[in-house]
Amino acid sequence: MNVLVEDIVALIEASLDANYSEVRSVSNRIAREISIEDMDAAKKIKSVLRRKGVPLQSSGYTASLPVDPKSRMPLIEEHQWPVTPLFLGESERNTFTTFIESVKYQNKLIENGLTGKLGLLLSGPPGTGKTLIAGHIASQLNRPLYVVRLDSVISSLLGDTAKNLRQIFDFVPSRNGILLLDEVDAVAKVRDDRHEIGELKRVVNTLIQGLDSLDDNSIVIAATNHAELLDPAIWRRFPFKIRLDLPCQGLREELWNHFLFQDKGKSLDLRALGALSAGLSGADIETISISARRQSILKGAELNMSSIILSIVDSDFNNSVIPGANDLEPIKKKKIINLLADTKSFTQSEIGTLLGLSRQTVSSHLKE
Ligand SMILES: Nc1ncnc2c1ncn2[C@@H]1O[C@H](COP(=O)(O)OP(=O)(O)O)[C@@H](O)[C@H]1O
Ligand SMILES: [Mg+2]
Repeated sequence: MNVLVEDIVALIEASLDANYSEVRSVSNRIAREISIEDMDAAKKIKSVLRRKGVPLQSSGYTASLPVDPKSRMPLIEEHQWPVTPLFLGESERNTFTTFIESVKYQNKLIENGLTGKLGLLLSGPPGTGKTLIAGHIASQLNRPLYVVRLDSVISSLLGDTAKNLRQIFDFVPSRNGILLLDEVDAVAKVRDDRHEIGELKRVVNTLIQGLDSLDDNSIVIAATNHAELLDPAIWRRFPFKIRLDLPCQGLREELWNHFLFQDKGKSLDLRALGALSAGLSGADIETISISARRQSILKGAELNMSSIILSIVDSDFNNSVIPGANDLEPIKKKKIINLLADTKSFTQSEIGTLLGLSRQTVSSHLKE
């Protein structure tokens, strides 16, 4: 073999720099050198170079993402792989794992007669981790994640919507990416908002055609807050489904433990926060946690359980600044004590420990 180590090094460097024209010129040089001894190998390299085409810009990766022809807004975003862990209930975790295994061992499935696309539909309220799941799947499969917000793709001109959708479905296979169709119910909502049923049908059909045009290796994940609005024809194209609910007590404790206590929470604290945060999503718990930690760092004070609890029970926690208050107003203190007592999961002395009060104080508040 005549390929010089220098050539290989140059190829690696150019690739990591995303310098496509350099990648091409080094590859051509390698093909030339190889062709002296092995014409077939040289042809293989040449054929890859031909097949892959020329990116519009040799640098500027994002510039080659498809855009809306009118607004020039990108239709697709590439998301980074998530750095935070994913907490799921058992059955959701099972589907998640089975989906990943099915992608990894797709060839084995095909050899045994199980063909078909591997689509995953995620449904559930906002902030329950749908986008996060897609990110974890992409990272476990080591593939880029491309996210399409369908509500923004649906152009005011429905004719453009179809064009936009086609652009997206042409783009993704070229990158071996995972396509996340976010807010996929936006397609269904067109029906309520405007235009006749005929135009809606066209958009739905384009979406279906797009899904059907992908080869078996392409992976599409769809996410929706309103699964019931989805057209059944779209529904059917996603054989794997995960229905996310607001997290249960156990999951809430895991979320608090991670986001608030950086995995070092005490079990009594976790039990209390878990019990009082029923109805909050994972994203809500993360928001409160980060806000509380920010306050505690800025004030140089320990995390204050009373004020965290208060921000959980105040519905408007999104804007609230979690006070570093050690002295809560008595009426608020009383409210928290009562809330904890109402769960019937804590003894008076546990409530005292949580709030930094004596058992007697707790007891006398409860008697009032
Ligand atoms: N089940 C979960 N496990 C871990 N983190 C979660 C979970 N649900 C929500 N979160 C946190 O909330 C953030 C927002 O969730 P996201 O995936 O965007 O929700 P959705 O797409 O369902 O609206 C996540 O990035 C994560 O930090
Ligand atoms: Mg999302």
